[in-house]
Amino acid sequence: MAPKSRPPGQLPRSSSASYIKYASPVIQQSVLSLLRRTFSAVYSHPETLAKTIQSVKGHLYTRDYAAAFGSPDYLLAYVVRWSPSRALAYLHVLGDLCPLIPEVLTSPSQKPNNTKDILCIGGGAGGEVLALATLANELHAKNVNILAVDIAHWDDVFEGLRDGIRRGFGWDKKDDEIAKDDNDIELRFRQMDILDIPCYLKSNDDDKAILTSNGDVPGSSHDNIDFGSLDIITIMFTTNELFAQSKPRTLTLFQYMSENCKPGTLLLILESAGSYSHIQIGSKTFPVQFLLDHIMVGNVAGWEKVVDDDAVWFRIQNDLKYPLELENMRFFLRLYRRV
Ligand SMILES: C[S@@+](CC[C@H](N)C(=O)[O-])C[C@H]1O[C@@H](n2cnc3c(N)ncnc32)[C@H](O)[C@@H]1O
Repeated sequence: MAPKSRPPGQLPRSSSASYIKYASPVIQQSVLSLLRRTFSAVYSHPETLAKTIQSVKGHLYTRDYAAAFGSPDYLLAYVVRWSPSRALAYLHVLGDLCPLIPEVLTSPSQKPNNTKDILCIGGGAGGEVLALATLANELHAKNVNILAVDIAHWDDVFEGLRDGIRRGFGWDKKDDEIAKDDNDIELRFRQMDILDIPCYLKSNDDDKAILTSNGDVPGSSHDNIDFGSLDIITIMFTTNELFAQSKPRTLTLFQYMSENCKPGTLLLILESAGSYSHIQIGSKTFPVQFLLDHIMVGNVAGWEKVVDDDAVWFRIQNDLKYPLELENMRFFLRLYRRV
């Protein structure tokens, strides 16, 4: 369970590794070992892998994300090279720095189907999915549905990771032995552009007439994602890309979340700290987290900020074993809750 003595707003502002419970060294190593087992074939050609990683790194450096995530080899290289460090950092954030998240995962659901529904936007690479699954497993959380959506074609890699997670945590055996309704955690992926905002936002009354009861347009890209049922939304290292693709459409997405999420929904946003995350509005440049605070918190949007830190350091511990480089990470963190 989440520690009760420290209210969410009073967490240490710069966490480093000073307060670690869920991301303990043993759990971190088990996450890395799970990835190593799952993608064992990928490490068996180290020279080819090293070259592919160099190519992906080049595209990431020039912020050409469409190229970086544009081929199956690149996706595999990303998942073995970058997702491990990210999964460890995200486990620390989700479990240790945001106590409301373990609390939501373990408290009874208010929904008739008794599920906890999580949407990971830009989550195809699986770092946050692995971290969430690990946390849910540690907490013995039940009925957790995790849906990762991503514009890139992560289907095959995600499927491999999902199977690796299910084997790693013994969920595959449980499915065979235990009744279906005791099936604890579901992991799904859908390839979609989250900014492909359908026409329901147009003011034209004729357009409104085709809304379904949950506000979706039949056949639209948001079809079947019921934002009103979500308990947790994560946007990990994807906000900058969304704003780079289209500022107006990204703002519309946040507005859509504000209009459709239920009270209590948690929205977790992590992104690079520092000038990498500056955004130009008119002639001025702002840190993107300032813009997020501005558009989310307040009477109109209706979110409150429950955890914030403009520069969290997550440092990799020395004794972890993994065949590729693991990276320290520095990022800003925002956890908003819909009021
Ligand atoms: C820098 S990666 C971060 C991946 C992962 N969240 C992590 O933290 O390791 C950004 C991800 O966002 C996805 N993405 C970019 N634009 C998107 C969009 N419009 N809709 C959905 N996913 C998008 C990319 O394909 C990529 O997988």
